[in-house]
Amino acid sequence: MPLDIIIGTQWGDEGKGRVVDLLAAQADAVARYSGGDNAGHTVTVGEKIFKLHLIPSGIVHPHTLAYIGNGVVVNPATLLSEIEQLQQAGVAVHPERLSISYAAHLITAGHLALDRAQEAARGAAKIGTTLRGIGPTYTDKVARRGLRMELMRDEKRFTPALREHFETVNQTLQKLYQAEPLEVNPLIDQYLGYAQSIKPFINDVSAQLSEALAKGKRVLAEGAQGTLLDLDHGTYPFVTSSYPTAPGALLGLGLGAACVDRVIGVTKAFQTRVGAGPFPTEVFDQTAEHLRGSGANPWDEFGTTTGRPRRIGWLDLVLLRYAIRVNGVSEIALTKLDILSGLQEVKLCIAYQANDQSYPIPPFGPTQLESYTPVYKTLPGWNEPIRSCRRWEDLPLNARQYIREIETAVQVPVRRISVGPERGDVIELS
Ligand code: IMP
Repeated sequence: MPLDIIIGTQWGDEGKGRVVDLLAAQADAVARYSGGDNAGHTVTVGEKIFKLHLIPSGIVHPHTLAYIGNGVVVNPATLLSEIEQLQQAGVAVHPERLSISYAAHLITAGHLALDRAQEAARGAAKIGTTLRGIGPTYTDKVARRGLRMELMRDEKRFTPALREHFETVNQTLQKLYQAEPLEVNPLIDQYLGYAQSIKPFINDVSAQLSEALAKGKRVLAEGAQGTLLDLDHGTYPFVTSSYPTAPGALLGLGLGAACVDRVIGVTKAFQTRVGAGPFPTEVFDQTAEHLRGSGANPWDEFGTTTGRPRRIGWLDLVLLRYAIRVNGVSEIALTKLDILSGLQEVKLCIAYQANDQSYPIPPFGPTQLESYTPVYKTLPGWNEPIRSCRRWEDLPLNARQYIREIETAVQVPVRRISVGPERGDVIELS
């Protein structure tokens, strides 16, 4: 019963879409288990670039089935526009290929309005959310007043539930945030309209995946965001409202732990972050500009969902050790190594220091990171472009040394290295 879980070990944007795309070639099914359209996965196939926020990016392989699990929050407008975008690009999307869990929660225009109002009210303390309504939707879920996808199958229950939801949102918007209320009736019609198109896709994803696994099918759980954005295990409160870590895959798909085969930790060769929050290895000099890129290429470090320039830093092995621990990572997929080409020297943060003490992992996880000073190991860089490298031996010696340092520091093997944006730009190691 092989379930492979792909997770990000950093603050998201590790290049999980690339790794999913590679592994989906051998998988029978690909499933999203957490978050919503705050994610952005870019997959380049020949001339075509797919930017997907909600539908598992593995769907671009013609043979895979795609699933959206109960742990996901679904914006129906995004869902329908992605279905259309994929269909226009010649990718088949129909209810026999895409299932959405009846227990996934619906993001509404009310949640979007609340996300905006809450961020504005936070002022200088804002989280820098993607404004996709993620936090308010999970808040409703936990408060047991959320709208689940199952309601879309039953107009008689969905209509009053929508009315109650929008009226409650309006009260909060007006009373708490002095914001304009939403027009309820047109919104109800809009969501009833969405239900007509989405209804056929709603299914029992937990049951479908369990059956597939029992038949020996290989399932890939496609993580969104990253470990350091996890609600419990991330840099709280600068986190998202879901569980992007590996246990979140089981929770968010309705599967037991016995089916897990590999936990693949996707790690970018340097560190990035969008939004506010601590970032011990952040740099602001020319190195940051070099690593970020100009924005001219789709793989440059600008948010896929928001377009914001990402904050840049050296690879933080302290936080990587932590991510490996909380996810049970069995192997690393190292991405964007090619972007480091051309730097005279490269740095790895190997420990944190505070009060003359050195920490391989901070005692209280990623809390109060401001109180530590990163300790770096500086290594010689390499000038050669590495995009055409396909074997370990093709890599410049200094690039190999960089990878060996990472493996030694975290005690987990690097099994895959991506050296360029195209599907084939990868080195597979056994
Ligand atoms: P939210 O998920 O929109 O509530 O945003 C909470 C935090 O998570 C913000 O700092 C966002 O920038 C960050 N975030 C959410 N989704 C992603 C992602 O897919 N990649 C990187 N950062 C993300």
